[in-house]
Amino acid sequence: MVSQGKRTHSCGDLRAADVGTRVRLSGWVDSRRDLGALVFVDLRDRYGITQVAFDEEVADALRATAGSLKSESVIHVTGTVRTRPDGMINRERATGEVEVLAEDLEVLSVAATPPFEMAAEGVSDELRLQYRYLDLRRQRSQRALGLRHKLFLALRNELDRRGFLEIETPILTKATPEGARDYLVPSRVHPGKLFALPQSPQIFKQILMVSGADKYFQIVRCFRDEDLRADRQPEFTQLDLEMSFVDEQIVWDVVSEVVAGAVEAVAPDRKPTLPLPIMTWTEAMERFGTDKPDTRFAVELKTVGQLVKDSEFGVFSGTVKNGGTVRMLAVPGGASFSRKQISGLEDVAKDHGAKGLAWNKVTAVGDGAEGSIVLEGGCSKFLSPAEAAALVAATGAGEGDLLLAVADSFGRSAQALSAVRLAVGKALDLIDTRRLDFLWIIEFPMFDRDEETGQLSPAHHPFCMPKEEYEGQLEQDPAGLLARSYDLVLNGTELGSGSVRIHDSAQQERVFSAIGLPDDEIQARFGFVLEAFRYGTPPHAGFAVGLDRLVMLLAGEESIREVIAFPKTATAACLMTGAPTTVPDDQLAEAGMELSPAARARLARAEGAAPGGASDAGADSALEVSS
Ligand code: AMO
Ligand code: AMP
Repeated sequence: MVSQGKRTHSCGDLRAADVGTRVRLSGWVDSRRDLGALVFVDLRDRYGITQVAFDEEVADALRATAGSLKSESVIHVTGTVRTRPDGMINRERATGEVEVLAEDLEVLSVAATPPFEMAAEGVSDELRLQYRYLDLRRQRSQRALGLRHKLFLALRNELDRRGFLEIETPILTKATPEGARDYLVPSRVHPGKLFALPQSPQIFKQILMVSGADKYFQIVRCFRDEDLRADRQPEFTQLDLEMSFVDEQIVWDVVSEVVAGAVEAVAPDRKPTLPLPIMTWTEAMERFGTDKPDTRFAVELKTVGQLVKDSEFGVFSGTVKNGGTVRMLAVPGGASFSRKQISGLEDVAKDHGAKGLAWNKVTAVGDGAEGSIVLEGGCSKFLSPAEAAALVAATGAGEGDLLLAVADSFGRSAQALSAVRLAVGKALDLIDTRRLDFLWIIEFPMFDRDEETGQLSPAHHPFCMPKEEYEGQLEQDPAGLLARSYDLVLNGTELGSGSVRIHDSAQQERVFSAIGLPDDEIQARFGFVLEAFRYGTPPHAGFAVGLDRLVMLLAGEESIREVIAFPKTATAACLMTGAPTTVPDDQLAEAGMELSPAARARLARAEGAAPGGASDAGADSALEVSS
């Protein structure tokens, strides 16, 4: 029971056992039914809804006030709890057996007409974000915020029990290399110099290991200026952790136990079974074409380039001759797909970089031998009986299945066909949405190579320890190196990342050099880390969980915006406050800055496009909200 100030109960408290009790409730007018002699008001707060009745026993003036209450107004009611008449009981509502017969009513705040119906589904994202305070009154938001709170509390308890210390690290700091752009903050005290907001506390947590913190964690906001998507916000929250004197197995065990314990705290029936499964990056790419496979359904990719290298179908044989490959999957029951459905899947493949999507319907398999297999449609007429038999055997396809293939480089075919795989899973309803499929992906490549420039960049960040480096490999063959890095995947979403770190200054310097950083830049950006590592550095490893994503998946939401109280739009703007905004020139000058003519021109154009003087941020972005 929540009892504060003038209230005796919350709007979610009252039950049959309270009948006869005199109560005082406060809340928002959820709805009102005026039947003349009888007025019902549904009173709502974050704990629930209670029905308040103003009947003939109540003074006419009071009933009239109740009858004219505007939705979302805030009121205070005094009355007595009574049972509802038979037939009026609402089993869907915790307070549904009772109602409060009003004796007194005080209107504390009259609400203007809300810009959207509070109970309505499908309110536009723009309105919801602009009037976020109203949106947050709704049950869906309340539930998400409640879940988030409970989960964070449980995570903290799990880590505390294991001896972790929560230590805060700076928000005004120096760039951390996590692969996005930095948000920069000017300083009045240091005109012309800028702080960067942390993309993660990566460097600080490693330095905390040098400091002997041993087991660190932090529930921490991170900032990244990058292209936003449903699972990406410019500021988001990580459960960040780091441990000394451990190897990867210990990190996997701790993270698995902590996450499983927290899931159990908020959803006891969904606790994952430990140990969580582990798969190498190489196997994941081979079987699913992605480093974040959704393992809730079984369809898998096969590499079939060698089986069709001499095929009459030039798309296949030509690609293989040019050093590419062919990857294929069998869609169970997919032979019944219409041309339109297949062409929808082809669009998915093309949207993900493929030149096309080859297909065959498996209309008969007979005994599986050459000649007893019948493929129809698509490129079937170009495939020999031997090729058809080999493809059916390789993919395990049965009668009534649909074969789908992409011919391209291994990487591009993987990317396209894994997207097709997901689309097929959704289209055929193969995914059990109650399931939570956690999966560790381990041993990522150390570096990514840019296909155009040939430039190497760290696949994760430059502090990961290479797996087994033979002498000189970092210098001579860095692209082939695997790292002691790992991700945790949940239902096809990357939930978190981590690695065993380099703890030796010399090796760290060699990695910086391998990604093409000149010595002076290494010193300017990371000199302080290399210096710290010279004073006694324990071997260490760590991890960071994207908590918005974890809450999103547990809440069954499709976007992390649904589980963040005040999220931003796809163009990283806040529709409620209008941030970011311009600042007066003198404030800029104080920090040693001024706007360029180009920026001024852009602002003027944006103002022009927003009659009515909406803020420039709003003008730019009001209609661009990612799904
Ligand atoms: P990484 O960059 O992979 O690793 O981030 C860890 C996790 O944070 C989440 N995440 C995001 N969530 C929402 N919006 C974003 N823009 C966003 N970016 C990342 C993801 C991701 O898996 N310092 C390393 C961790 C380490 O090595 O210990 C790091 O930050 O769920
Ligand atoms: P085209 O020769 O371009 O008319 O393509 C014939 C069929 O092959 C179409 O169904 C295309 O979608 C498909 N196709 C074309 N390129 C590829 C490719 N690289 N991989 C798989 N299928 C392809």
